[in-house]
Amino acid sequence: MGSASATKILIKGGTVVNAHHKMVADVYIEDGIIVYVGPDIKANDDVKVIDASGKYVMPGGIDPHTHLDMGFMGTQTIDDFFSGQAAALAGGTTMHIDFVIPVDGSLSAGFESYLKKAEKSVMDYGFHMAITKWDEDVSKDMEIMVKEKGINSFKFFLAYKGALMVSDELLLQGLKKCKSLGALAMVHAENGDAVAEGQKRMIDLGITGPEGHALSRPPVLEGEATARAIRLASFVNTPLYVVHVMSIDAMEEIAKARNSGKRVIGEPVVSGLVLNDSWLWDPDFTTAAKYVMSPPIRTAGHDKALQAALSAGILQLVGTDHCTFNSTQKARGSDDFQKIPNGVNGIEERMHLVWETMVESGQISVTDYVRITSAECARIFNIYPRKGAILAGSDADIIILNPNSSFTITADSHHSRSDTNVYEGRNGKGRVEVTISRGKVVWENGKLMVEPGYGRYVKMPPFSYLFEGLDRADAAYLSSLRAPVQRLVSST
Ligand code: URP
Ligand code: ZN
Ligand code: ZN
Ligand code: ZN
Repeated sequence: MGSASATKILIKGGTVVNAHHKMVADVYIEDGIIVYVGPDIKANDDVKVIDASGKYVMPGGIDPHTHLDMGFMGTQTIDDFFSGQAAALAGGTTMHIDFVIPVDGSLSAGFESYLKKAEKSVMDYGFHMAITKWDEDVSKDMEIMVKEKGINSFKFFLAYKGALMVSDELLLQGLKKCKSLGALAMVHAENGDAVAEGQKRMIDLGITGPEGHALSRPPVLEGEATARAIRLASFVNTPLYVVHVMSIDAMEEIAKARNSGKRVIGEPVVSGLVLNDSWLWDPDFTTAAKYVMSPPIRTAGHDKALQAALSAGILQLVGTDHCTFNSTQKARGSDDFQKIPNGVNGIEERMHLVWETMVESGQISVTDYVRITSAECARIFNIYPRKGAILAGSDADIIILNPNSSFTITADSHHSRSDTNVYEGRNGKGRVEVTISRGKVVWENGKLMVEPGYGRYVKMPPFSYLFEGLDRADAAYLSSLRAPVQRLVSST
């Protein structure tokens, strides 16, 4: 009964998991939307029925951090919006948010170029946007992006000196503008000036291999930039999102800020949660170079601390920073680590590795899994519960995960175009057996059924929950500044 192209689907007998609740229930889908969730739904003949008994029925993953078809460090990422998204669907991720890079500093030109790149999309996607320079045009364009184009977050790079890096002065202007627009400011937190100094130090010492990458930009530089960004955001009183938190140093700054009531979001990425830097010392360049990303994958210990912070709620959601280069591209830096294109894979592996590392290990509940892989991302970027939930009215982006089935990761079997995989040989329990994207079965029985052009651009509105009450806090602050002056006036 039914076919892959059926517009009516009934998922029977699974455990339906949302971020705050799970229950055994059926899920009925029509025309891409979840129509009903409840017990014993009966199906007509034109409905495709999927048996999910003994399995988890969960919202598809949302990856908050990817770079598809991005020009970077003199080359282009090997995965585009087709191959990257196909990989995502095979791994249970049904939406991602990619970073638009401006063209010659122009946001509108960058936006148009990314819409073009995304025409071959096979699943839904949204955009963040990087801010790489500052002038009146950029400021005006930010407004257009937020009010007309569906962008509600801007990323500031505090690293990549001479390329994407911005000054504190620019960051301050950007934070003020973000606040006025209700857009979330995001930072890549490493001190770019000190990184340049660290790189010079390694080259002077004759350390030119991939290990030099990690040695040149130690955790202290991530901690410094994280602390600085948090303090500047606090000075402006606007929320801050720290991308790819890779170290204890950065995580502790976030913990401290959150403990004092600041609105700071911390995003670890899969590589930081499950890998350590030992591979960077591998004598084989191709092996070592595939682990080069920024901030670097840290020494053993940081990974476990980030996992603990995630389970404690100090960090809120998991991304991948999927930014793939094949071994030929990585070889650009075979005699100088500074030329190795930065980035690792993960868009296909995230859901499995987070399940294995966090749920299967007993560190978090299944409901928390849904929160950190999907629902919280949808809340932060203001598209909940259209995405990130299995509720009547939500988009039918759904995965069925069999906790008793197992997965193995290899470059030979993955769907990315890269010829390497940083998770090569990893295996574990819990496998995504079915992926449904807006009501269409796109992954089943180990087969992908995708169609370029199927993916839709998801506009994300400004003023998420992170902005609620900020105006009242600002008013209280202003009256606290004026109060002593008024006393002085009235006493004379
Ligand atoms: O190494 C990385 N992370 N490459 C992607 C660009 C970025 O900094 O996110
Ligand atoms: Zn409920
Ligand atoms: Zn970054
Ligand atoms: Zn990134």
